[in-house]
Amino acid sequence: MNFLLLQKVFLSLIAAAVAAVVVSKIRGRRRNMPPGPITLPIFGSWFQVGNNLDHHDFIRYAQKFGHVFLLRMGQRRIAVVSSPELAKEVLLTQGKEFGSRSRNIVFDIFTGKGQDMIFTDYGDHWRKMRRIVTVPFFTNKVVHQYHGDWEAEAEAVVEDMRNTPAASMEGVVLRRRIELMVYNNVYKIMFDKKFESEEDPLYVKLKNVNGERSRLGQSLEYNFGDFVPIFRPFLRGYLNKCKEVTRRRLNLYKDSFVEVRKKIASTEAFDKNRLKCGIDHFLECQANGEINEDNVLYIVENMNVAAIETVIWTLEWAVAELINNPEIQNKLRAELDAVLGPNKQVTEPDTHKLPYLQAVIKETLRLRMVVPCLVPHMNLDKANLGGYEIPAESRIFVNAWWLANDPALWKKPEEFRPERFLEEESSVEVNGNDIKYIPFGVGRRSCPGIMMAMPVLGITLGRLVQNFELFPPLGQSKIDTAENNGQFATRMSKHSTIVLKPRNII
Ligand code: HEM
Repeated sequence: MNFLLLQKVFLSLIAAAVAAVVVSKIRGRRRNMPPGPITLPIFGSWFQVGNNLDHHDFIRYAQKFGHVFLLRMGQRRIAVVSSPELAKEVLLTQGKEFGSRSRNIVFDIFTGKGQDMIFTDYGDHWRKMRRIVTVPFFTNKVVHQYHGDWEAEAEAVVEDMRNTPAASMEGVVLRRRIELMVYNNVYKIMFDKKFESEEDPLYVKLKNVNGERSRLGQSLEYNFGDFVPIFRPFLRGYLNKCKEVTRRRLNLYKDSFVEVRKKIASTEAFDKNRLKCGIDHFLECQANGEINEDNVLYIVENMNVAAIETVIWTLEWAVAELINNPEIQNKLRAELDAVLGPNKQVTEPDTHKLPYLQAVIKETLRLRMVVPCLVPHMNLDKANLGGYEIPAESRIFVNAWWLANDPALWKKPEEFRPERFLEEESSVEVNGNDIKYIPFGVGRRSCPGIMMAMPVLGITLGRLVQNFELFPPLGQSKIDTAENNGQFATRMSKHSTIVLKPRNII
């Protein structure tokens, strides 16, 4: 009896699910939404698709469903765009309509539901924040004022490596030293602050708490609870951890940097004519009522993520590619020697006279794009794309990696070949002048940090190659370039050990 009842319930459930699928398909077709995998009530396509979504998975779905497809993942709708024409539509032609950001449950916590700049909706708050951050960070004047510091920081990396005997023998994890350099580059502009060594206790604290935030944010393991709200109770512990880390980070920024700077600036001895740093400017904006204290801290939080990890990851990829392609490393060194001579270390103005160096950086950003689907965009209202209706508040991923690696658009895209940017792709720039190559995005929400990223990448890589021959550790023929794909970032899975043999000509 009980068994019969159970059987009936089970069959009714299956019938209801099938009916729901059919109804949703018919409704989807009537509303002309983009194609995508079959969906179930409540879960959408989560059972078929799972938690791990990266640019490679998106390519597979695009091959099946087309240049725009829609994944219904529980409560979230994810539209993925994989052609230059549709990317242009999202980022440029309808840049305003698709100019908001989609946040997941974890980024809601990290950004106070969009009180920051990177994850806020398109509108007045974003415009104001972007204007405020632009003054101390994103103008030519900033490059002019700070490139000497970036060069000094790169020089310090070279000196430290020369003075570390292990570097030329068994090798060192170069990333650790590069990380300090990148922190110093950013903290100089933001707080006029420099960390003296990797052991500096404040630096260690900062790096740890930022690292925790990165790990928690990039992990794909919380997707199930973001997609399917009935699962959220299982994430309580995870979300509490995110809240705790956010509290610790914001307190650290406030107590150890913002308040310290306020104190320095209020002392008699403070030279008012000195170059203003970022925080002086943000605090002025707070004092005149443009933004509040939370906004100031969220700007600091944004810069700690956007400006630091992206550059470190790109440098790690570039060094790995140069080691794994020794002929390219040698060719780059030959260009540096020929253009600069034996006694001149590369500076920011020099980077413009070094086409092969620029090509190596571009090729790294093409093949090893660290933000492969850009930071997710969102349409606040219902929109049209490629003849389809995109429901309001869909998460929009533009598969920029695929645009830059599609064999229909690039010659042998799987090869690391900087020459392509001097030959058949010589007109393609990093600023998005050609939509098939947008490692920094393009349009309203594109990366303003390109101003700083490109010179820092050029100076650092140039100096490393001028001063050292770079090798994998003994017994290893290549650096392991396995990928680790997170929510929006692609990093190297392992922090490689690098052997740096000093060159004696300089
Ligand atoms: C190799 C280095 C970097 C890469 C590859 C990179 C890439 C990107 C990408 C792809 C986006 C999203 C574009 C979009 O969604 O349309 C972005 C946004 C952003 N980046 Fe970068 N970035 C880098 C370095 C930097 C640096 C150094 C800074 C700051 C100094 C920075 C600040 C930002 C900010 C503030 C945004 C958000 C813009 C907005 O929402 O309006 N980035 N970046």
